[in-house]
Amino acid sequence: MKMLARLVLGLVILDAAMTAPTPKLINLDSETYDSILEELDNLYNYENIPIRQAEVERVTVMPLGSRELPTSAPQSEEVQEEEEEEESTPRLIDGSSSLEPEFTGVLGPHTNEDFPTCLLCTCISTTVYCDDHELDAIPPLPRNTAYFYSRFNRIKKINRNDFASLNDLKRIDLTSNLISEIDEDAFRKLPRLRELVLRDNKIRQLPELPTTLTFIDVSNNRLGRKGIKQEAFKDMFDLHHLYLTDNNLDHIPLPLPENLQALHLQNNNILEMHEDTFCNVKNLTYIRKALEDIRLDGNPINLSRTPQAYICLPRLPIGSLV
Ligand SMILES: *[C@@H]1O[C@H](CO)[C@@H](O)[C@H](O)[C@H]1NC(C)=O
Ligand SMILES: *[C@@H]1O[C@H](CO)[C@@H](O)[C@H](O)[C@H]1NC(C)=O
Repeated sequence: MKMLARLVLGLVILDAAMTAPTPKLINLDSETYDSILEELDNLYNYENIPIRQAEVERVTVMPLGSRELPTSAPQSEEVQEEEEEEESTPRLIDGSSSLEPEFTGVLGPHTNEDFPTCLLCTCISTTVYCDDHELDAIPPLPRNTAYFYSRFNRIKKINRNDFASLNDLKRIDLTSNLISEIDEDAFRKLPRLRELVLRDNKIRQLPELPTTLTFIDVSNNRLGRKGIKQEAFKDMFDLHHLYLTDNNLDHIPLPLPENLQALHLQNNNILEMHEDTFCNVKNLTYIRKALEDIRLDGNPINLSRTPQAYICLPRLPIGSLV
């Protein structure tokens, strides 16, 4: 009888796995499953990858397992089991590099509440997604993290150790948090960081940035007149996008790296520029050919006052000319 019950249950689950979209399978037990399973739900939404294959295989095996089936809420246990097995599928991030014995678990390092980061967030290959989780700090990340997304949280500060030793990190996206403070060396030692997105925060001061950056978006912060260091972008030879809109900046940060393609400064407080902000007044053969997209609209600047300032550019800046 018990065996039959297991078999029927197995068939029901198998059927659901084959026919319903994956999130619906989880929803079978909407009364009992907890927030961890919602995380899994998120995982399915992020990637439509061959997860269902693994799932179907697992489900067929499950009824034959040696576990006792409780009579009250059997499906709840099924789902929890699934969740555990889910986290051990090989495509999830695997911190068990031979160099890093401390991160042998597939769930990544543990947070302060002793909760694995890759159960709290979603880790797919070397990408960690922590969007919209009400986080108030950056969770400890697996050593091989390359892409980190933690948008729409409540992070207030970036500490010097938050990204320590993450030598493969290429992109950090912390859009829409409450960041007002960043430790001076929080990003400095990231040898492969290319894209840094910090838009929609409350940042008053940019820390030292790695020169490997190609894309910087610090729009809609509070940089004001002192938030950007002197010559902050000078040595970023690969920087092609610099977005600094809505910051109450009162100057254009100089010098601009040679390969810069887009400079967005809308809605700041820039009053004036010099004839050699973009060009070289002493050398009329100089051409800044990469810089095609300059936005200065929404500033109290009158671009007609510096007619010589654009002669080396492929296009005029956008902004007030009268
Ligand atoms: C003027 O600029 C051109 C193009 O960048 C460069 O090749 C040349 O050496 C410069 N001349 C002087 C006098 O700096
Ligand atoms: C902008 O500058 C031009 C050239 O100096 C001047 O003729 C014009 O009146 C200025 N416009 C405003 C609104 O100040």
